[in-house]
Amino acid sequence: MKMTVSGVRSVWTVVALACASFANVALAQDQPLQGDPKHGKAISYTCLGCHGIEGYKNAYPMYSVPKLEGQRPEYLAAALHEYKSGDREHLTMHSQASTLSDQDIADIAAYFAGKPLVSQGKPAGTPPQAATLCVSCHGQDGVAIAPAYPSLAGQHQDYIARAIDEYRKGGRKNPIMKGFAAQLKDEDIQVIAEYFSHEQHPSLSTESRPYTALTASHGE
Ligand code: HEC
Ligand code: HEC
Repeated sequence: MKMTVSGVRSVWTVVALACASFANVALAQDQPLQGDPKHGKAISYTCLGCHGIEGYKNAYPMYSVPKLEGQRPEYLAAALHEYKSGDREHLTMHSQASTLSDQDIADIAAYFAGKPLVSQGKPAGTPPQAATLCVSCHGQDGVAIAPAYPSLAGQHQDYIARAIDEYRKGGRKNPIMKGFAAQLKDEDIQVIAEYFSHEQHPSLSTESRPYTALTASHGE
């Protein structure tokens, strides 16, 4: 028996060595793509038509266009892939994301993230009872604890409420959030959205538009 086992093992060693270079290629492809914020900026003109205007609203239903600056690039890229694949239902964002290659998505995510928020460990107020589970991923102060999680600090209140409702109703299909959202009542959602959206430091912000008439004269 021992002979057989070591025989099998040495065969595997040979196979492993033979495949090592292929394995490296496969591993390299599994790594998240490195984003180039300069190229991201160059291709984000259309995006800024909505995401670069403070207080801009989605129509029918009416809610605020989300702030992107300060999120982690990993999260922004994941969100864009979900609009592209349909795991998040939103007509405009689906058509926007569908025009982007994987590399474009990485580039644009790097640009929009800017300097991702870093928690200062000082939440403004006490998280409401209904957010007890939420803070373990989204942070006491709304600054996400891992790159794949979105920060909620200073995000528009109506957008946070809308997003939670979409997980509850199934328009957003992320299985983790679907489970958490399903347990929330309408009142909980309002209280949670209000807590994270107000007076948290640091906070997400709306990207400034580098090419508006006002800044164009500065040669941007
Ligand atoms: C017509 C307005 C509009 C345009 C143009 C637009 N967006 Fe959006 N974007 C939205 C709205 C509204 C949402 C929220 C959708 C939802 O409810 O899920 C959104 C959501 C997002 C999100 C998810 C944010 C989060 O917190 O999860 C990202 C990332 C994003 N957009 C990036 C982009 C990029 C990149 C472009 C350009 C290629 C772009 N958007 C163009 C309106 C727009
Ligand atoms: C285990 C970690 C985890 C927990 C706990 C959790 N979330 Fe999330 N949350 C996520 C992830 C991951 C996403 C991104 C899902 C996606 O891709 O759409 C997310 C997305 C969200 C979004 C959308 C943000 C945006 O910018 O679009 C909101 C709002 C949100 N969560 C609120 C909550 C609330 C409220 C709770 C508690 C009831 C909660 N989350 C609990 C991991 C978590």
